[in-house]
Order: sequence, then structure tokens, then C-alpha cells
Amino acid sequence: MTGGIPLCGTIVINGAKNAALPLMALGLLTDQPLALEGVPLVGDVHTLQEILEELGTSIMRLHNYFVLKTHRVTSTRASYERVRKMRASILVLGALLGRCGEAEVSLPGGCAIGARPVNLHLDGLRALGVTIDIEHGYIVAKAPKGRVRGGMYEFPKVSVTGSMNVLLAAVLAEGESCLKNVALEPELGDFITCLKKMGAVIEREGSTLWIQGQSSLGGAQHKILPDRIELGTYMVAAAITRGNLLLENADISLVMAAVDLLRKIGAVVEEVTPNTIRVMASDALEAFSMRTGEFPEMATDLQAQFMALATLGQGTSEITETIFDNRFMHVCELIRMGAHIELEGNHAVVFGQKRLMGAPVMATDLRASASLVLAALAAEGTTIIRRVYHLDRGYEGMEIKLAQCGAQIQRLTTQPEQDELLVVRA
Ligand code: UD1
Repeated sequence: MTGGIPLCGTIVINGAKNAALPLMALGLLTDQPLALEGVPLVGDVHTLQEILEELGTSIMRLHNYFVLKTHRVTSTRASYERVRKMRASILVLGALLGRCGEAEVSLPGGCAIGARPVNLHLDGLRALGVTIDIEHGYIVAKAPKGRVRGGMYEFPKVSVTGSMNVLLAAVLAEGESCLKNVALEPELGDFITCLKKMGAVIEREGSTLWIQGQSSLGGAQHKILPDRIELGTYMVAAAITRGNLLLENADISLVMAAVDLLRKIGAVVEEVTPNTIRVMASDALEAFSMRTGEFPEMATDLQAQFMALATLGQGTSEITETIFDNRFMHVCELIRMGAHIELEGNHAVVFGQKRLMGAPVMATDLRASASLVLAALAAEGTTIIRRVYHLDRGYEGMEIKLAQCGAQIQRLTTQPEQDELLVVRA
């Protein structure tokens, strides 16, 4: 991969991975077809597809259009081999409890970006009358009398998939439930919209949900909302290469924190139509101060990408991570490309440099990989990024989209799905 070329052209944003995964889990709640439009063809979606198929869901696919049907749940066990690949697999726990009143799901285990426990998922499900034991690394969950009952739970800390998991069980519970302090992330909003199409009765007031449990749910057809993290990543790609990108299927309201920051430091961001955004930059951007937070604040999933931008900023930037406790794995790799970054706990000080240099680097997690691609796009010389399977977990065809806008980027396969390389040249 060779950097330094301003990106110019159009990129179409996919449906959101973080909405597609919980929406696919909804397929377990009904014996009717659930049609999802705009499913991104990324690694995490394939992993969940495999898990769902093992549980009895049949999935028909035509490009990004998926139809899921679970005539009968044939197994209520999700194995470690599958779940360890992707933490969001834990979503089948709530879905199986809702549909069958029992589930056995592997505990997800550690993760590159922090401890990431699932205690809130489990406490929320306990509040719906579910008994939970941990046996041999598995969560063994059962609803007495085979059906979850309504209950009340207030999340002591906001959890996006935690909110979804408890909701998955509550919509099919006997009686009413009330969930407080649920996430405000738009992917939860999209999930609730689809659930309502399936016949779920949910009322929402801010971060409180009232749910009237139903004895069964029907099918639905749903178009997945745009991926705000993919969108934010390409916004930074335009800025870091001093390029000019038109981003389609791009809802600006989903990324206002990123838009405001980019405008503040000197980039031009225009809403061309309600669905199209143009991002342009002509000079090195100013330094900035940024803090991640829950929606609508800056997404933690964009922190690594903005750090790549800060490495070439005019002055010293400060970045504070508040959601995860170990989300700076990209720092060492950016330093190998010539960045000057100092870390103190969850706070990074980034001293802007005039240039970055291509280097061999290693991807460590999904968004860290994206930040390395962005840095490589702006670096002098050639960068080789290893372990790009991390990138493929969440970005559909990133190198194709970037190459269409002028990037010199190429995938080299050494051992498929293990050690593929992205080579970027400038
Ligand atoms: C989701 C997103 C992920 C994003 C994150 C934060 C999906 C598939 N993934 O992850 O891309 O980075 O939201 O926006 O949608 N926590 C607990 N106990 C729990 C659950 C969470 O302590 O039971 C903590 C986590 O360790 C973290 C914080 O709560 O510090 C937020 O995590 P959470 O919102 O649950 O993240 P995910 O839903 O896993």
C-alpha cells in the first residue's frame, strides 16, 4: 500500500454491521421469514450466519439481501469455537431464551480492546426470571416453566448489545417489562423498529423501554441503517489524504460528532443531499482534543481512525478513551510509521508530524486495522499491513472502495484468512 495520493471519487456506505448482527439474531424469534436489506458482507456477519445455521435458521442470500427463517430451533447451544470469534454472538442468548426458554452459550472470553464482561447481559436476563449458571465456560440459562417472564431492570452502565440481549428475551416474555438506561446508539433504534414490524409491543421514552411481551412474533422486511463507523472512517480517509470524497447512503445525523470535529479543524463537510455527504480537505488539519462517549458523542469505534489523522495534525492533539480500558493497540504500530504519541492510561497525547513513513505493521483489532490503512494512505512509501482479517470483520471491500478513488492498495494472499497483507503505496 503506497500513501500520499489524495482520494477523489464516490464511495457507497454499506448497511451497519452493528445493526445487521442483532437484526440477524431476530430471525430466531419467529418461525416466519425475516428479510434484511443491506446486510454488509463482512466476517462478523459470516460468523453469525454459521452460528444461526447451527441453531436451525435457514438463510437465503442474494448479495446484501438476506432472508432468514427459523421454522424450528434445532439446538439451543452456541459453541465456544464459534462464539470466541466474535463477542456479538452472545446475542443468541437472549433470542434463544425468548423463543425456547433456555440456552447454553459459551462465555465470549477476552478481547483485544479490554476485559468486556457480559455481567449486565446476565443481570438483565435474571431480572426476567432466568436462572443462570456458569458451567465449563458456558452460560447455562433457563426460564422456569419454559418461558421468560416480564421484569424490570435498570442498567447500571450503558451497554449496547446488553440492551439488545435483554430486549430479545423481553419481547416474548409473559407480561410487561421495563428496561431503564438502555443505549441511545442508533443501531438499537433500528433494532426496535424491526422488532415492532414483527409485532413486538415496545414503547420508548429516551433511555427507558416499556415492553408488552407477546406469545409469538411474525416476519418482517427491513432495510438496515447506514454504517456510521464505515462512514466516519471514509470521512477521515478524505481528510487525511487531503482529498475529496462523495459518500453515498450516508446519513449525516449519525456522525455529527465526527462532522463537527472535522469542520472545526479545517475540513469541509457538506450535506449534498439528505443521503450524501462530501468531505474535502486541502491543507494539513489543525490539532484537536477529542473524547469518546456514548451516542451522540464521538464513537469509540472511530477513535483509532481520528488518532491516525492527529499524527499529521498541525500541533498537539489529545485523545481520551472513556468506553474501553485497553483500546490503544494501534499506537505502537502508528509509532512504527513515524508517529509521535505518548500514552498515559486512557489518554493519548499525539504530537503532529509533517510526514509518516510506510512500514510493515500488524493489525490487532478491527478499528485499529482501519487506522493503519488510513495512516498508510497518507504515508510516504509503502506500508504492508498484516493480519487484515481483522479489517474484513467489519469493512466490506475496503481496498476495492479505496482503489476506485485512486489509492494504490492491493491485497496479497499468503495464507488465506490468516496472514493476508494489504500493500499501500504512495
Ligand atoms: C458495541 C459495539 C462496539 C462498540 C461498543 C461501544 C456491536 C456488535 N458492538 O459493543 O462496536 O465499540 O458497542 O459503542 O454493536 N460492559 C460491562 N458489562 C457488560 C457489558 C458491557 O461492564 O455486561 C462495559 C464494557 O466493558 C464497556 C462498556 O460497558 O466498557 C460498553 O460496552 P457495550 O456497550 O456493551 O459494548 P458492546 O455492546 O459489546
